[in-house]
Amino acid sequence: DKGEYPHFMLKEIYEQPEALTNAMRGRLHEADATAHFGGLNLTAAQLRQVERIIITGCGTSYYAGLVGEYLIEDLARLPVEVEYASELRYRHPPIDPQTILLAITQSGETADTLAALREANRRGQTTLAICNVVGSSIAREAHGGVYLHAGPEIGVASTKAFTAQCLVLTLLALYLGRLRHLSVSQGQRILRELQALPEAVRQALQCHDSVKTLAEKYSHATNMLYLGRQYLYPVALEGALKLKEISYIHAEGYPAAEMKHGPIALVDEQTPSVFLVPSGPVFDKVLANMQEIKARGGPIIAITSGNEAEVAAIADDVIAVPAVAEYLQPIVTVIPLQLLAYEMALLRGCDVDRPRNLAKSVTVE
Ligand code: F6R
Repeated sequence: DKGEYPHFMLKEIYEQPEALTNAMRGRLHEADATAHFGGLNLTAAQLRQVERIIITGCGTSYYAGLVGEYLIEDLARLPVEVEYASELRYRHPPIDPQTILLAITQSGETADTLAALREANRRGQTTLAICNVVGSSIAREAHGGVYLHAGPEIGVASTKAFTAQCLVLTLLALYLGRLRHLSVSQGQRILRELQALPEAVRQALQCHDSVKTLAEKYSHATNMLYLGRQYLYPVALEGALKLKEISYIHAEGYPAAEMKHGPIALVDEQTPSVFLVPSGPVFDKVLANMQEIKARGGPIIAITSGNEAEVAAIADDVIAVPAVAEYLQPIVTVIPLQLLAYEMALLRGCDVDRPRNLAKSVTVE
């Protein structure tokens, strides 16, 4: 039931503070300053033996996996590779016994992700899954896993599943980190930052009116670029995918500094760039990348948690989001991008809940 909302997608965007609270519920363990999970089916001793993680998934779930790569490297200092399930299933990667496969999937039924998981199971690898749908094929066939508890996602474009996936990956990275080198005080700081997250997402949703105005300004674009660095590079990819799939506007995500290696040739007065400009260590770097685009005459939309005046000196339009710890920035920053895709699609008369050519769950190869 859509309730008061005109579309499932909008309802699910607005459910995110609650979905994140549900994904955390019962999993934050104050006494040990870590996260706990019921269904990993691996002991702490077994998990300490893990030397490498291969994450796999498709589409938005693959992008959450890319966020997971930064998270697990940062918090747990474990090497991570992220592979499209459709590619991984036919590859022949050298695997050692200390490598585990982590599948990420909202539906738990995506054919390529299921096939990649089965192939890893067949080789005798330990497999874990992060799933939303309880009792789905992937949830059943993985050795262990974590449910999102995000509630049913009906809109074809994934929204609350993405943020819940990023959150569960943070919890997992915290847990793996606390089995390795993270101290009690570092664990406690992360728990506090996690507890404040749903409120930060609630604040981020308040950008909706400014995003509407923005959508009116740019809804006739035929090409758009989404640019971010580090934790926000996967979010740039996700923002571009959201726009493509529901508004049918061509959009590309790139690491902001890669533009000058080719894609900057696309920039002209008709090609807006959405820059993700977080407070913290990458702020100045992204501003420098913004200057490069501005110098070529490209319109610039900036989503920022940093100094707004500095950003506004370069960007044409600025949307502010709350400042959070660097590893939580993806969850807060994707909110305006989801709303932008939604509003642009509405203005172009698209069916946001059932975009053309797409199905909610891709059960064929
Ligand atoms: C994009 C979207 C798809 C899915 C992909 C994987 O909004 O929904 O890209 O993320 O088809 O689906 P799951 O997560 O069910 O495996």
